[in-house]
Amino acid sequence: MLNLLNHPIIESELTKLRDKRTSSELFRQSVVSIGSCMAYEVLKNLPTREIQVETPLETTKGIEITSKVVFIPILRAGLGLLPPFMKKYPKAEVGYIGIRRNETTFHGEEYYFNVPEINSETRIFLLEIMLATGGSLISAISRLKLEGAAHINVVALISAPEGIERIATEYPEIAIYTAAIDRGLNEKKYIVPGLGDAGDRLNGT
Ligand code: URA
Repeated sequence: MLNLLNHPIIESELTKLRDKRTSSELFRQSVVSIGSCMAYEVLKNLPTREIQVETPLETTKGIEITSKVVFIPILRAGLGLLPPFMKKYPKAEVGYIGIRRNETTFHGEEYYFNVPEINSETRIFLLEIMLATGGSLISAISRLKLEGAAHINVVALISAPEGIERIATEYPEIAIYTAAIDRGLNEKKYIVPGLGDAGDRLNGT
Protein backbone atom coordinates (compact mmCIF):
# COMPACT_ATOMS: atom_id res chain seq x y z
CA MET A 1 0.00 0.00 0.00
CA LEU A 2 1.59 3.26 -1.17
CA ASN A 3 0.92 6.55 0.65
CA LEU A 4 2.23 9.72 -0.95
CA LEU A 5 2.20 12.43 1.72
CA ASN A 6 2.07 15.91 0.31
CA HIS A 7 1.82 19.16 2.16
CA PRO A 8 3.22 22.61 1.36
CA ILE A 9 5.68 22.40 4.28
CA ILE A 10 6.92 18.98 3.16
CA GLU A 11 7.32 20.13 -0.44
CA SER A 12 9.12 23.38 0.38
CA GLU A 13 11.52 21.58 2.75
CA LEU A 14 12.11 18.89 0.12
CA THR A 15 13.08 21.63 -2.32
CA LYS A 16 15.76 22.76 0.16
CA LEU A 17 17.02 19.17 0.48
CA ARG A 18 17.34 18.84 -3.28
CA ASP A 19 19.28 22.11 -3.63
CA LYS A 20 22.98 21.20 -3.88
CA ARG A 21 23.93 24.48 -2.14
CA THR A 22 22.09 23.51 1.08
CA SER A 23 24.54 23.04 3.99
CA SER A 24 24.49 19.92 6.19
CA GLU A 25 23.10 22.00 9.03
CA LEU A 26 20.11 23.16 6.99
CA PHE A 27 19.78 19.73 5.41
CA ARG A 28 19.36 18.15 8.87
CA GLN A 29 16.83 20.78 9.88
CA SER A 30 14.76 20.13 6.76
CA VAL A 31 14.84 16.36 7.34
CA VAL A 32 13.54 16.96 10.89
CA SER A 33 10.83 19.28 9.62
CA ILE A 34 9.62 16.80 6.96
CA GLY A 35 9.96 13.89 9.40
CA SER A 36 7.76 15.62 11.92
CA CYS A 37 4.98 16.19 9.32
CA MET A 38 5.31 12.59 8.12
CA ALA A 39 5.32 11.08 11.62
CA TYR A 40 1.94 12.62 12.33
CA GLU A 41 0.40 10.90 9.30
CA VAL A 42 2.35 7.65 9.51
CA LEU A 43 1.36 7.00 13.14
CA LYS A 44 -2.31 7.69 12.71
CA ASN A 45 -3.33 4.03 12.31
CA LEU A 46 -1.77 2.76 15.53
CA PRO A 47 -4.18 0.42 17.31
CA THR A 48 -5.91 1.88 20.35
CA ARG A 49 -8.40 0.90 23.02
CA GLU A 50 -10.89 2.93 24.96
CA ILE A 51 -10.06 3.71 28.59
CA GLN A 52 -11.61 5.77 31.37
CA VAL A 53 -9.84 8.87 32.60
CA GLU A 54 -10.52 10.94 35.71
CA THR A 55 -10.41 14.65 35.01
CA PRO A 56 -10.45 16.95 38.07
CA LEU A 57 -14.22 17.18 37.47
CA GLU A 58 -15.51 13.79 36.32
CA THR A 59 -14.79 10.51 34.60
CA THR A 60 -14.64 10.53 30.81
CA LYS A 61 -13.54 8.38 27.91
CA GLY A 62 -10.06 8.42 26.42
CA ILE A 63 -7.83 6.09 24.47
CA GLU A 64 -4.46 4.46 24.82
CA ILE A 65 -2.16 2.96 22.20
CA THR A 66 -2.10 -0.78 22.65
CA SER A 67 0.82 -2.03 20.56
CA LYS A 68 4.49 -1.78 21.09
CA VAL A 69 5.98 0.63 18.55
CA VAL A 70 9.54 0.27 17.28
CA PHE A 71 11.33 2.82 15.10
CA ILE A 72 14.25 1.41 13.14
CA PRO A 73 16.45 3.82 11.19
CA ILE A 74 18.45 2.19 8.43
CA LEU A 75 22.03 3.32 9.09
CA ARG A 76 23.21 5.76 8.37
CA ALA A 77 20.95 8.22 6.53
CA GLY A 78 17.77 6.98 8.21
CA LEU A 79 19.11 8.29 11.54
CA GLY A 80 18.08 11.78 10.42
CA LEU A 81 14.42 10.82 10.79
CA LEU A 82 14.71 9.34 14.28
CA PRO A 83 14.51 12.61 16.32
CA PRO A 84 11.18 13.81 14.83
CA PHE A 85 9.65 10.35 15.19
CA MET A 86 10.82 10.02 18.81
CA LYS A 87 9.51 13.48 19.56
CA LYS A 88 6.09 12.51 18.24
CA TYR A 89 5.98 9.23 20.20
CA PRO A 90 8.65 9.09 22.94
CA LYS A 91 7.32 5.78 24.26
CA ALA A 92 8.55 3.97 21.15
CA GLU A 93 11.50 1.63 21.35
CA VAL A 94 14.38 1.96 18.90
CA GLY A 95 16.32 -0.56 16.85
CA TYR A 96 19.14 -0.09 14.37
CA ILE A 97 19.87 -1.93 11.15
CA GLY A 98 23.05 -1.23 9.24
CA ILE A 99 22.94 -2.13 5.57
CA ARG A 100 25.70 -1.31 3.17
CA ARG A 101 25.10 -1.11 -0.55
CA ASN A 102 27.44 -3.35 -2.54
CA GLU A 103 28.58 -0.91 -5.24
CA THR A 104 28.98 -3.73 -7.80
CA THR A 105 25.78 -5.68 -7.33
CA PHE A 106 23.80 -2.82 -5.71
CA HIS A 107 22.47 -5.40 -3.24
CA GLY A 108 22.09 -4.48 0.43
CA GLU A 109 24.48 -6.27 2.80
CA GLU A 110 23.66 -6.24 6.51
CA TYR A 111 26.54 -5.27 8.82
CA TYR A 112 24.63 -4.40 11.99
CA PHE A 113 21.37 -5.63 13.51
CA ASN A 114 20.24 -4.56 16.97
CA VAL A 115 16.49 -4.55 17.42
CA PRO A 116 14.30 -4.82 20.57
CA GLU A 117 12.21 -7.94 21.09
CA ILE A 118 9.39 -7.95 18.55
CA ASN A 119 6.30 -10.07 18.03
CA SER A 120 3.48 -10.28 15.49
CA GLU A 121 1.67 -7.35 17.16
CA THR A 122 4.62 -4.94 17.20
CA ARG A 123 4.24 -1.95 14.88
CA ILE A 124 7.57 -1.42 13.16
CA PHE A 125 8.55 1.70 11.23
CA LEU A 126 11.65 1.45 9.07
CA LEU A 127 13.10 4.95 8.61
CA GLU A 128 15.07 5.69 5.46
CA ILE A 129 15.76 8.85 3.47
CA MET A 130 15.99 7.32 -0.02
CA LEU A 131 14.06 4.31 -1.30
CA ALA A 132 16.13 3.64 -4.44
CA THR A 133 16.39 0.01 -5.64
CA GLY A 134 14.68 -1.19 -2.47
CA GLY A 135 17.60 -3.59 -1.82
CA SER A 136 18.41 -2.33 1.69
CA LEU A 137 14.80 -2.25 2.76
CA ILE A 138 14.04 -5.71 1.34
CA SER A 139 17.01 -7.07 3.24
CA ALA A 140 15.80 -5.38 6.48
CA ILE A 141 12.22 -6.56 5.96
CA SER A 142 13.19 -10.19 5.34
CA ARG A 143 15.36 -10.22 8.48
CA LEU A 144 12.57 -8.67 10.58
CA LYS A 145 10.09 -11.24 9.28
CA LEU A 146 12.42 -13.99 10.46
CA GLU A 147 12.32 -12.34 13.90
CA GLY A 148 8.50 -12.58 13.88
CA ALA A 149 7.48 -9.14 12.59
CA ALA A 150 4.06 -8.92 10.92
CA HIS A 151 3.36 -5.16 10.86
CA ILE A 152 6.16 -3.40 9.04
CA ASN A 153 5.88 0.11 7.59
CA VAL A 154 8.44 1.81 5.39
CA VAL A 155 8.99 5.57 5.70
CA ALA A 156 11.16 7.18 3.01
CA LEU A 157 11.47 10.85 2.09
CA ILE A 158 12.11 10.28 -1.63
CA SER A 159 11.33 7.09 -3.54
CA ALA A 160 12.06 5.73 -6.99
CA PRO A 161 9.28 3.85 -8.80
CA GLU A 162 11.64 0.85 -9.16
CA GLY A 163 12.08 0.51 -5.37
CA ILE A 164 8.40 0.99 -4.65
CA GLU A 165 7.52 -1.64 -7.24
CA ARG A 166 10.01 -4.12 -5.81
CA ILE A 167 8.75 -3.83 -2.24
CA ALA A 168 5.11 -3.87 -3.38
CA THR A 169 5.74 -7.06 -5.39
CA GLU A 170 7.71 -8.94 -2.74
CA TYR A 171 5.78 -7.65 0.28
CA PRO A 172 2.36 -6.36 -0.84
CA GLU A 173 1.16 -6.15 2.77
CA ILE A 174 3.73 -3.51 3.70
CA ALA A 175 2.67 0.15 3.86
CA ILE A 176 5.09 2.56 2.20
CA TYR A 177 4.94 6.24 3.20
CA THR A 178 6.88 8.66 1.04
CA ALA A 179 7.00 12.41 0.50
CA ALA A 180 8.01 12.23 -3.18
CA ILE A 181 8.14 9.76 -6.05
CA ASP A 182 10.96 10.76 -8.38
CA ARG A 183 11.52 9.90 -12.04
CA GLY A 184 13.74 6.85 -11.55
CA LEU A 185 17.29 5.59 -11.04
CA ASN A 186 20.42 6.48 -13.00
CA GLU A 187 23.10 3.97 -14.03
CA LYS A 188 24.71 4.21 -10.57
CA LYS A 189 21.32 3.53 -8.97
CA TYR A 190 20.99 7.03 -7.59
CA ILE A 191 17.52 8.52 -7.56
CA VAL A 192 17.02 11.27 -10.17
CA PRO A 193 16.44 14.10 -9.76
CA GLY A 194 16.85 13.08 -6.10
CA LEU A 195 19.20 14.89 -3.74
CA GLY A 196 22.50 13.02 -4.16
CA ASP A 197 23.96 10.85 -1.39
CA ALA A 198 21.67 11.37 1.59
CA GLY A 199 24.18 10.04 4.15
CA ASP A 200 26.94 12.34 2.88
CA ARG A 201 24.70 15.38 2.78
CA LEU A 202 23.32 14.70 6.26
CA ASN A 203 26.73 14.09 7.81
CA GLY A 204 28.76 16.58 5.82
CA THR A 205 31.10 13.86 4.49
N1 URA B 1 21.00 6.49 -1.62
C1 URA B 1 21.21 7.84 -1.63
O1 URA B 1 21.73 8.40 -0.68
N2 URA B 1 20.84 8.54 -2.72
C2 URA B 1 20.26 7.97 -3.80
O2 URA B 1 19.93 8.67 -4.76
C3 URA B 1 20.06 6.57 -3.77
C4 URA B 1 20.44 5.85 -2.67
